[in-house]
Amino acid sequence: MDRAASPLGVIILAAGRGTRMRSERAKVLHTVAGKPFVLSVLDAALALHPERIAVVVGHEAEKVKGVCAVHLAGCGAETPVFYPVQREQHGTGDAVRAAAPVFEGFVGDLLVLYGDVPALTPATLADLVAHHRRAAAAVSLLTATFEDPSGYGRIRRRADGGIAGVVEERDLAPAERGIAEVNPGIYCASAHFLLPALARLRADNAQREYYLTDVVGMAVADGLPVATLPVANVREVAGINSRKEMASMEELARRVLVEHWMQAGVTFRDPTTAYLEDGVTIGADSEIGPNVQLLGRTTIGRGCRIDGTAFLRDATIGDRVHLRLGVAMTDCRVGDDVVIGPFAHLRPGSELAAGVRVGNFVETKNARLGAGTKANHLTYLGDVEVGDHANIGAGTITCNYDGFAKHRTVIGNRVQIGSDTQLVAPVTVADDAYVAAGTTVTRDVPAGHLALSRVPQRTVAGWVERRRAKASAKSGQAGPVRPTETAAPAKVAAVPPRASGRAKAPPAKRKTVRLTARPPARVKGGRRGKR
Ligand code: UD1
Ligand code: MG
Repeated sequence: MDRAASPLGVIILAAGRGTRMRSERAKVLHTVAGKPFVLSVLDAALALHPERIAVVVGHEAEKVKGVCAVHLAGCGAETPVFYPVQREQHGTGDAVRAAAPVFEGFVGDLLVLYGDVPALTPATLADLVAHHRRAAAAVSLLTATFEDPSGYGRIRRRADGGIAGVVEERDLAPAERGIAEVNPGIYCASAHFLLPALARLRADNAQREYYLTDVVGMAVADGLPVATLPVANVREVAGINSRKEMASMEELARRVLVEHWMQAGVTFRDPTTAYLEDGVTIGADSEIGPNVQLLGRTTIGRGCRIDGTAFLRDATIGDRVHLRLGVAMTDCRVGDDVVIGPFAHLRPGSELAAGVRVGNFVETKNARLGAGTKANHLTYLGDVEVGDHANIGAGTITCNYDGFAKHRTVIGNRVQIGSDTQLVAPVTVADDAYVAAGTTVTRDVPAGHLALSRVPQRTVAGWVERRRAKASAKSGQAGPVRPTETAAPAKVAAVPPRASGRAKAPPAKRKTVRLTARPPARVKGGRRGKR
């Protein structure tokens, strides 16, 4: 048979708990650069277009399966993927045994991979398969020489240099501890050798487990050809067993991603503090400041500027966008030429059209802001739709929640919302309307009208002096009051409300009027209303 053309199957072992991670989560679901280990291995396998793949699941089986299935649906992979279950984890050999039914009657080569080796590349796997087929071997494996081989199974060699087998670290004889050539755990074997060999595994070792590695020694003992291929880049085959190993893998992955985007024309002011994940894209001539996290499916356009200290997850950003210091964005879309921050929070469902300005201490959620609209200071815009070229004054709040349900606010084109406005949803402010500063909008405002709800201002002359005099009389001391002013008669002046333009003063009273509720907003007609 032409071995080069023989079918290829892949088995990915992902059933273990990963005790050394000290985690409730299955080890293969932990992430490097935002991607679960098992998906990196799955992607490397898919790139070889195998005939079928078996992902052996056990610990958190449903979750591992779910993560793989969602990923496969997302990338439109056509390779059939099966999820055999290894109910109890009795070792890597036992895990491959759990996958055997998927390959019943399969004639070809099986690539066996561990789900905790996320930096693996398809090119290395293709090299191993080609090497295995050229050597017409029963089983072939990659090898790597590590400066610090601790934790890995070691390659035992015969005097003539040929491989004798793989020995787990715990089973090493003291004289073998210095062996630096390790088993990265990436194998290619012919199905007709591997599947029957699994039945011969014994758990007669320090961990009382069925070691997959024992099949190598078996093939040697059977006099079958066993091939080894030293891997070119040893970092690629590092397995992750602890948080420390995960952190150094993360650092490496991050560096690779940053270098990739630098090659593509992106400036990083401080590459060591740029945190990028795998699914991120950045347009050329964009400039990334220090302490920036670009995560998930974040996309940055061309010529953007991110000043620094920013957290973006699943954010889509247009061209020439400027994110000033301290911006947090999740699951939102921003058009071209938008300026955001400093210190702004864009929550899921925020959609900013071209030229929008969102300034300091502004929070948006489920909010659509039309082209050129501005919300520059201290504002909450939740469950809202704002038209084009509107201006949202400082301190505007959409009161979207009544304790039971969320309600929507609609603000039209060119609307001017004065500072310190509350919009009690559901409510609509139609095109070209004005809302006066300090208004509580509880009823719809028709197009071109002015809405206004204000307590008329009273200015009480001499109040402070009298208050001080009263306080000092009480304490029996002379107050800090100048004699001429103490002599002045008490006066209460009423000042007409400015926005109404009317001079109807309330009756002068010495006592302060205490209000329990704001008066309802008055709405003035567009034609008649004075500004
Ligand atoms: C394994 C190898 C070791 C190699 C190292 C490379 C064996 C016996 N040892 O050790 O020679 O140097 O990988 O990284 O194979 N798994 C299951 N079911 C089980 C046990 C493990 O599915 O019952 C899965 C795990 O989820 C993991 C993979 O197999 O993805 C490897 O298991 P792990 O426990 O990490 O093996 P190592 O001790 O790293
Ligand atoms: Mg491991």
